[in-house]
Amino acid sequence: MENTHDFHSPATNLIGIGAIKDLPLELMPYKLSKALIVTDKNIIKLGYVETVEKILKSLFISYDIFDGILHPDCTISFVEDALTYFKKRLNILKRSYHIIISIGGGTNHDCAKAVAIIATNGGSIEDYEGYEKMKNPALPVISINTTSGSGSEISNFAIIEDESRKVKMTIGDSKMMPIISVNDPMFMQTMPPDVTASSGIDVLTHSIEGFVSTEASPITDSLALKSIKLVFKYLKRAYENGNDLEAREQMMFASVMAGMVFNNAGLGYVHSMSHQLGALYNEIHGTCNGILLPHVFEFNSPSIPDERIFNINEIIGLEAETKKDAVNNIKHSIQNLCEDIKLPDHLSSIGFNENDLEFMSKNALKDICSITNPRKGTLTDIMDIFKAAI
Ligand SMILES: [Fe+2]
Repeated sequence: MENTHDFHSPATNLIGIGAIKDLPLELMPYKLSKALIVTDKNIIKLGYVETVEKILKSLFISYDIFDGILHPDCTISFVEDALTYFKKRLNILKRSYHIIISIGGGTNHDCAKAVAIIATNGGSIEDYEGYEKMKNPALPVISINTTSGSGSEISNFAIIEDESRKVKMTIGDSKMMPIISVNDPMFMQTMPPDVTASSGIDVLTHSIEGFVSTEASPITDSLALKSIKLVFKYLKRAYENGNDLEAREQMMFASVMAGMVFNNAGLGYVHSMSHQLGALYNEIHGTCNGILLPHVFEFNSPSIPDERIFNINEIIGLEAETKKDAVNNIKHSIQNLCEDIKLPDHLSSIGFNENDLEFMSKNALKDICSITNPRKGTLTDIMDIFKAAI
């Protein structure tokens, strides 16, 4: 019986306090002469881009900086702005970029990946919505991460918001996997508490959804369980004191592991539904996940093997006699953690409008994250989960 579990990750992952110092050595063999940095003005203000500029200068790599990304999500218009800049510079320089370097969080990495796709495949980014739609490998991307959350720096997925259709497109293709990722907590200390909170819950969601996914494997299982443990131990600390480097470092590890989990095991309905809330209300991704995760977990629980439920329960440090108790424990633990880090626990607090329920539920079922959800839901089921979270 065929049962394969391919594992994709960047060829090189520089991880830990001071990891950025290893980047020059890793870049040297590529013999690069021209790079495009994709970032935003805030990251420049924090001095992180300057650190990378120094590295590029030391290697005689010339570069341009596109800093037109606004937050919180990567939209088609950011991608088009970056592409316009990219093409204009090419006309002036008559020389191609060898590489794109994204500096920032998931929004910046996703934008960089989208530019890298179009640079070698042409067309517009909507052409690549879905899975494995690219013909050619994307332009190589190096992703230097400044948040602990999205996992985009080590994934072959990009989430791009289509403002006109009010949906978030998921683009998945191993041909756009970054070649080098950098996760250095020194770049994460300035993450404000609200970003620490929402991106930390995104990490937890990646791990839990990946652990119960239909594509989970023993490799992703071990990464997911360790990541869940670290989030419950360190997220509150990182939220309460951004300068707690140990907590930052452990959350960074949790985020990297969770990124590897979802990239290889897939996600589920929390992400499918959360993408709709983000597209319609511009609400922060991790915040939406935190509200939905307990309800989706409860919905999925009949289809999750008992052992997996007890595994999660145990790794959080809880005891339960029955599966039902374990599900309740997990639900309440997620809700308590969200409360500790001041995230909302109801959709009503993020401006949810019941008139949008059917539209969002239909689109959630079409989202590619739904493919690996452990329990197949109907439109009514998805609507009921949204209602339970109101
Ligand atoms: Fe996510």
